[in-house]
Amino acid sequence: MSYPKVTVVGAGQVGATAAELLLLHELADVVLIDIAEGLPQGKALDLMHTRSVERFGPTIAGTNDYADTAGSDIVVVTAGLPRKPGMTRDDLLAANSDIVRSVMFQVVEHSPEAIFLLVTNPLDVMVYLAHKESGLPSKRVIGMGGVLDSARFAFAVAEKTGAPIAEIEALACGAHGDAMVPMPRFTTVGGTPITEMLSEEDVAALVERTTFGGAEVVALLKTGSAFYAPAASIVRMVRALLSDEGDVVPACVLLSGEYGIEDVYMSVPVAIDRTGVGAVVELDVNAEELAALRASAATIAEALDSLNLRD
Ligand code: APR
Repeated sequence: MSYPKVTVVGAGQVGATAAELLLLHELADVVLIDIAEGLPQGKALDLMHTRSVERFGPTIAGTNDYADTAGSDIVVVTAGLPRKPGMTRDDLLAANSDIVRSVMFQVVEHSPEAIFLLVTNPLDVMVYLAHKESGLPSKRVIGMGGVLDSARFAFAVAEKTGAPIAEIEALACGAHGDAMVPMPRFTTVGGTPITEMLSEEDVAALVERTTFGGAEVVALLKTGSAFYAPAASIVRMVRALLSDEGDVVPACVLLSGEYGIEDVYMSVPVAIDRTGVGAVVELDVNAEELAALRASAATIAEALDSLNLRD
């Protein structure tokens, strides 16, 4: 049996966990690559030992050499630095920009036809940078933000209502960060919008918990940030990107006039399949939701302009 080839750049918490899930779900042969010597090789070897127990079909190889990533169908980029004490957001932006730029240059050289799924934060800026500097069509450069944010919204709704997770459909759009736009009218329990079930205060509290879901994890862990749900969200997207189903997921894509937003990457519901990004689903938003989406886009645009990325 032959499997698609997925390269995961960054063998840290998020990258290695995503690699493990890709194998367990038998979605792809994986190449795990990192700048740190031994790290991807060690984790790949450990996962190959796991294979003898779990008996999954696909294999994984760890490497520091981009030649081994050649011919990938999908490249997932999780390489980056976490924010360290004393580091400003701008310092992080500069450091991770350099990393994403250099990673993209090398992966694109070996897999020019791949779909590139960016995960490194600050996400919306990193995806834009990856698209702009690679010169690849925006159809094949996409970011993982909305799936994770929507998952955190669904969790908050489940906690509040006690409803089974399978009955909850949640949606969060916009920037992957403080300017996120959870969408309560489009978030349902058994098909009923939460705005028709819960008080305004309760809905506001769920929105708040969703927006700061990542920070809640960081505060508990004390070192490092979330990785299980980010990895699961990556795998959800890879599954859609390997299929012809045209699954609609909230994903970070280039907007070209949708919702009146131009030349910004941010999360909105969009159909994705093995050719990459398809049609953006334009939700029937009200004036307040539209204003929130545009305000979110404006914060991303500001960061892009601070890096002089836009024309
Ligand atoms: N090339 C390849 N790998 C790199 C490079 C580079 N230029 N620079 C750093 N890395 C690797 C590091 O060596 C490390 O193994 O990226 C990995 C990042 O792993 P972690 O520090 O464990 O970070 P993680 O929690 O996995 O998060 C990765 O995903 O969700 C986002 O905000 C998160 O931007 C962060 C990224």
